[in-house]
Amino acid sequence: MQLHNNKILITGATSGIGKALTKKFLELDNKIIAVGRNKKKLEKLSKLDQRIIPFKCDVSKQEELDKLTLFVEQQHKDLNILINNAGIQYNYNFSEEPQLLYKIEYELSTNFLAPLKLIALLLPTLKVNDNSAIVNVSSGLAIVPKSQAPVYCGTKAGIHIFSKALRYQLKKVKVFEIIPSLVDTAMTEGRGKGKISPQKLADEFIKAFKKNKYEVNIGKVKLLRIINRISPSIADKIMKG
Ligand SMILES: NC(=O)c1ccc[n+]([C@@H]2O[C@H](COP(=O)([O-])OP(=O)(O)OC[C@H]3O[C@@H](n4cnc5c(N)ncnc54)[C@H](OP(=O)(O)O)[C@@H]3O)[C@@H](O)[C@H]2O)c1
Repeated sequence: MQLHNNKILITGATSGIGKALTKKFLELDNKIIAVGRNKKKLEKLSKLDQRIIPFKCDVSKQEELDKLTLFVEQQHKDLNILINNAGIQYNYNFSEEPQLLYKIEYELSTNFLAPLKLIALLLPTLKVNDNSAIVNVSSGLAIVPKSQAPVYCGTKAGIHIFSKALRYQLKKVKVFEIIPSLVDTAMTEGRGKGKISPQKLADEFIKAFKKNKYEVNIGKVKLLRIINRISPSIADKIMKG
């Protein structure tokens, strides 16, 4: 992949991994369409650099995805990279959660349906531009799940397998997957040990992106995948929690 002169749409650009990817791609001389739900966070982000184009959109809502698509088609036809990063994680016990149906719906629509729908909606634009790519952010939990977040793990496993199958289908548009280990962001605040910084993730990803390495195992996910290949039961024990 060419690392400069791209127009990149990043969902969840206002925080954590999305923000680190935004800054990294700006350093490399690209333009960013930054997507998030929160207007204030978007305004603050766009003050960092005039090459940031903010767009408020809750990706779990179809009508907002439609508005985002129209915005791209009318004003940013040169979009050539889509990064599906926005995500949420609920930790709860499936048999005890009082808001179970709401949580299933919101986690699925944000983490799984939204990336698929955005790809469907923006693929016609991506297809006609050069150096085009889709980057989906999954998780080490897509490979080996933890007990506290079954729906989250399910959505990420879905993204993992979907990305692989889509890569087989698409010829011109390259399909990448970032598979992060634990990263120090708002999502993981107050839990987990041995987290890496979002900046380190961005640096690792860019090296792989440049070399067209499509499945990008970040940090300890490299080791996790080796352990899982040798002994799935040991990997399960490590990750189960
Ligand atoms: N942190 C980790 O250890 C880790 C590990 C593996 C995978 N991941 C994945 O990495 C991605 C980024 O996570 P993070 O750790 O950077 O989390 P984060 O700091 O909480 O950031 C999440 C971002 O997603 C946006 N977002 C959430 N729901 C949205 C929605 N419905 N519509 C639009 N934007 C939405 C948030 O923006 P607003 O609040 O402004 O909407 C925010 O910018 C997620 O897909 C996550 O599952 C994270």
